[in-house]
Amino acid sequence: MLPPKPPALDARSAAGLVRQWRRAVEPEALAAAYDALAGAGPLVPTPWGALLVTGYEECRQVLTGREWLTLGARWRDAHRPGWRASASTVGLCETPLQQDPPEHTARRRPLNAVLSPRVVREAAERLVEPLTERHVGEFAAAVRRDGTADVVAGVCRPLPTALLAEMAGLPEWIDRGWLAAESAAMVRVEELAAPPSVVRRADAAAGTLLDAYDRALAERRRRPTGDLLSQWAAEDPAGARYLLLTLFSAGVPTTAALLGGTALALTTRPALAERIRRDPGFAVPLTEELLRWDPPGRVVTRVAGADTALGDRPVPAGRVVHALIGAAHRDPSRFPDPHRFDPHRFGPGRPAQRLLAFGGGLHYCLGSHLARAQALAFARAFARELPGARCAAPPVRHTGPSMADIARLTIHSPLTYRETEGQ
Ligand code: HEM
Repeated sequence: MLPPKPPALDARSAAGLVRQWRRAVEPEALAAAYDALAGAGPLVPTPWGALLVTGYEECRQVLTGREWLTLGARWRDAHRPGWRASASTVGLCETPLQQDPPEHTARRRPLNAVLSPRVVREAAERLVEPLTERHVGEFAAAVRRDGTADVVAGVCRPLPTALLAEMAGLPEWIDRGWLAAESAAMVRVEELAAPPSVVRRADAAAGTLLDAYDRALAERRRRPTGDLLSQWAAEDPAGARYLLLTLFSAGVPTTAALLGGTALALTTRPALAERIRRDPGFAVPLTEELLRWDPPGRVVTRVAGADTALGDRPVPAGRVVHALIGAAHRDPSRFPDPHRFDPHRFGPGRPAQRLLAFGGGLHYCLGSHLARAQALAFARAFARELPGARCAAPPVRHTGPSMADIARLTIHSPLTYRETEGQ
């Protein structure tokens, strides 16, 4: 027998649920908002005419169905007059994330080559371990020296930036800390109804990032050095700047969010760090559970390119939907007892469970292997180098329901005090 359908939702109640979701900042509040939305049915209408999709199966359909298109330049030209005044939105619409075939196919191809399983495996072996050791080692030294330090600014952002900069051959004069901060600021324009101050900041970041990429590419065009930057500069003079923009805007804030979530878990649940010290393999199910619990990108937005359906509900062509990946990962029909944080659900002998954290279909993330490799290396190094580490203060989170990145997480280690007490 089919489960009973929830009663029809009036516009006012729907608006209340959407408001609750948009205001949620802490994961617990977000989980309550996901439950409330899911309780109202698989598709909840928003006051701006879109639909929120919460079920796992419906979100998977949005990610993989060929009828679902991005809100790229074509859609914006038709529906958002004046959008080209936003440099960050224009920049993001030049990345495959906001393109449909055939533009998508052409822009994704050179990135595919760089992030092929072979290249990523090689980079993981050659770069991920040493860079992680260096960043976490320096961070642990700073905690010992200063008593506390911010792990987001110290490791979570600089580590993925340094890795991608190394893989691309980015010149040293592009400051890695600056690049990480600007890339994070730029993608915040993707937040649902981002306020004007956030858009202004994102636009300024897009402008300076593209200037820096243009200068670096011009250098390599004059004096090629055999690296990826030289190759892109020669092969795609007009598009290379957007390949770099894609690499850093798709690869840095997302990985930083996963590393921040890892640091938070290891400092608030010390048994996890202890377990990794004893059994480094435990970092694998822990990382999967972190990706399920609060995926770095919580929302993927698409528009129906033709009349279609989600589950048993018809959706007309032109309707915009927000697939709430975070809610799909709390769907009890897919993940039993979904609000329990339990890495063992991904442990050995358990059935493989397909997460939506890296998307699906045409736009499936090209950096998933690289991100996972960094998360594993980071969890092991952090547990080893910072035994007994705790949060010195609750994490500072960005507001807005779309992205899970932590803005600041201050860490202290009890060992610091023990060592100084003994002097
Ligand atoms: C934990 C880290 C990461 C997460 C959670 C993540 C998540 C995602 C998601 C959900 C998508 C699909 C978006 C959509 O369908 O609209 C995506 C696409 C993409 N990701 Fe990632 N990503 C991560 C790290 C990375 C890294 C490290 C790189 C690059 C080195 C990368 C490069 C890309 C690219 C190029 C795309 C666009 C693919 C396309 O549109 O064809 N990502 N990512």
